[in-house]
Amino acid sequence: MTQPESRRRLPLLPGHSGRSALTCVYRCGDACAHPVPNTSGNAYFGDLMAKVASRRGVLRAGALGAVVASVGVGGAVASGSAAAAPGRSGGLRFTPVPPNITDAVTVPDGYDQAVVVGWGDPVLPGAPAFDFERQTAAAQARQFGYNCDYVNVLPISRDRALMWVNHEYTDETLMFRGYTDGASATAEQMKIALAAHGGSVVEIERAGGTGKWRLVRTGRRRFNRRVTATTPMRFSGPAASSALLRTAADPKGREVRGMLNNCAGGLTPWGTILTCEENFNQYFVGGDGVPAADKPALARYGIDTTKRFPSDSRRWDRVDERFDLTEHPHEANRFGWVVEIDPFDPHSTPVKHTHLGRFKHEGANSTLAEDGRVVVYLGDDERFDYIYKYVSKGRYREGSRRHNRDLLSDGTLYVAKFTGDSPAGEIDGSGKLPADGDFDGSGQWIPLVSGDVSHVPGMSAAEVLVHTRLAADKAGATKMDRPEDIERNPKTGAVYVALTNNTARTAAQADEPNPRANNKHGHVLELVEAGNDAGATRFAWSVPLVCGDPEDPGTYFAGFDKSQVSPISCPDNVAFDAAGNLWISTDGNALGAHDGLFAMPVEGPDRGHVRQFLSMPVGAETCGPLITEDQRTVFVAVQHPGEVDGASPDAPASHWPEGGSTQPRPSVVAVWHTQGAHIGS
Ligand code: FEO
Ligand code: CA
Ligand code: CA
Ligand code: CA
Repeated sequence: MTQPESRRRLPLLPGHSGRSALTCVYRCGDACAHPVPNTSGNAYFGDLMAKVASRRGVLRAGALGAVVASVGVGGAVASGSAAAAPGRSGGLRFTPVPPNITDAVTVPDGYDQAVVVGWGDPVLPGAPAFDFERQTAAAQARQFGYNCDYVNVLPISRDRALMWVNHEYTDETLMFRGYTDGASATAEQMKIALAAHGGSVVEIERAGGTGKWRLVRTGRRRFNRRVTATTPMRFSGPAASSALLRTAADPKGREVRGMLNNCAGGLTPWGTILTCEENFNQYFVGGDGVPAADKPALARYGIDTTKRFPSDSRRWDRVDERFDLTEHPHEANRFGWVVEIDPFDPHSTPVKHTHLGRFKHEGANSTLAEDGRVVVYLGDDERFDYIYKYVSKGRYREGSRRHNRDLLSDGTLYVAKFTGDSPAGEIDGSGKLPADGDFDGSGQWIPLVSGDVSHVPGMSAAEVLVHTRLAADKAGATKMDRPEDIERNPKTGAVYVALTNNTARTAAQADEPNPRANNKHGHVLELVEAGNDAGATRFAWSVPLVCGDPEDPGTYFAGFDKSQVSPISCPDNVAFDAAGNLWISTDGNALGAHDGLFAMPVEGPDRGHVRQFLSMPVGAETCGPLITEDQRTVFVAVQHPGEVDGASPDAPASHWPEGGSTQPRPSVVAVWHTQGAHIGS
């Protein structure tokens, strides 16, 4: 008997991840090859005394079904804050894309896709056309950067919009012919890489009334902008101007040049972009030469404090001395923040918001509490690190930009502590469900700092914000399996957390919120705030999705028939359509097929019915998924196509998107239904 389309799959690959060694080196600074930076004694499983199953039942019953108050982003195309369209069911009816290893973006029957903008495309006036063999830093500073990640789209009119895109990192071995390492890189190559980081704002237009969008290439493009690793920015919030942020170049600790490794992000209720600095540690050298007292905090962030030049360093210190911590020990404190950028004002100064804490920020999706305070969910993407949220002190005021822009500078930063409701002995690390039938329990948000007031004994407010991981260690936060994107479902109010993987977790460390040892494929947490109020300090949680091969008994698809679901591995970013279905992009598929984008209803009889909507080219990860509010377009960023071990410009592993013998180019793609139907319906 033939298997359903969704079940055809490739043989399982050995090893811990589907990610190439190149991706590990250039994106994360080889984080998984280094010791886990969290050496705190925090518990892996919760305090079993706090068994509040009955309370949880009340919370959950009161929560689901309630509709979240719309944030009202002033007509944003993005669905991030929209209430569900009336009359639509959550039913998704596309034919799943089977797992595959095709060097293409593969979409379901009836859909089409095309590149909107790719690496090197002109962004600013005077930018030359992309020429792989003749790159210059001056050209790159005016062209679309490398390795697109977070994507958001904001309307200017029905058929015109501006698109924000993060440029997370550079892979010099694929960008430059003959590149070997940072020590021998040319100064121009390093300056190109600095300019290829950051983000872009580009104007895009709808093609012929369809769901297809394309780059506006000529005429007035007044919003177009490049932000790079050298763009002037300022600090805001309680840690701004603190001694920990001061350097020779910035003796007041108020200004910084550039942002690094911007991974995912979010949209504020007032329509600005939050873009998140993630694996910033890898850009610094000279950690061995910092004062001994500074070393533990740097090491907690993965900075090598034992060597002058860690292996695989880009050696940017050769063109910009601030990347040498021996000379400038505080410079690393100035990265690892959430950055706010107004995409509608190309002359605005980006702001690094210190009140949202400093860690390896994955994303920063916002919502409103019942009383109008702004809530931002934050994940720290490292094995055994934590989940955070920020709640503003003041309330959001519709239409009052001047008032709203200060909301991220005064509030409370919390970290999450999870408590399972099943006996610890029932969590054996295999993924086997406990006797109550669910990995679930309760949790609390532990306050770390409110404005200038620290809640962590022995640490000042500025210390809590600059060394947030250390503060959260002291507060007793729960160690998670790489918390990445976190986003609230605009229809139900439940909050979803992508936990990508963690092969370092042992069976003894398995707990109810992270129930699998050697967690190669990751899982998804569902969190329901008390009273379904995002401002609450307690929550209920469960694990609806334990990823992997559905035939693996350690997987769980919310109880849905596993013979009907697509295999899924390494959930990374989450998004929602207007009907409240969860969309999940993957990074590092450890099942042997390429990464992809998947859709899963979270309510009704189809809850847990995961189906693959698209797949990536060779070596690429799926980033920035966005389903537009009009349900006509899915945008995805195709990051690091061709990033396969042994690949180089002389031997490209991918020729996506241009085919033939071309070099791979990270690019943003639009997907639409050829008959104009709503996405997935
Ligand atoms: Fe840049 Fe955590 O992915
Ligand atoms: Ca349980
Ligand atoms: Ca990511
Ligand atoms: Ca998202």
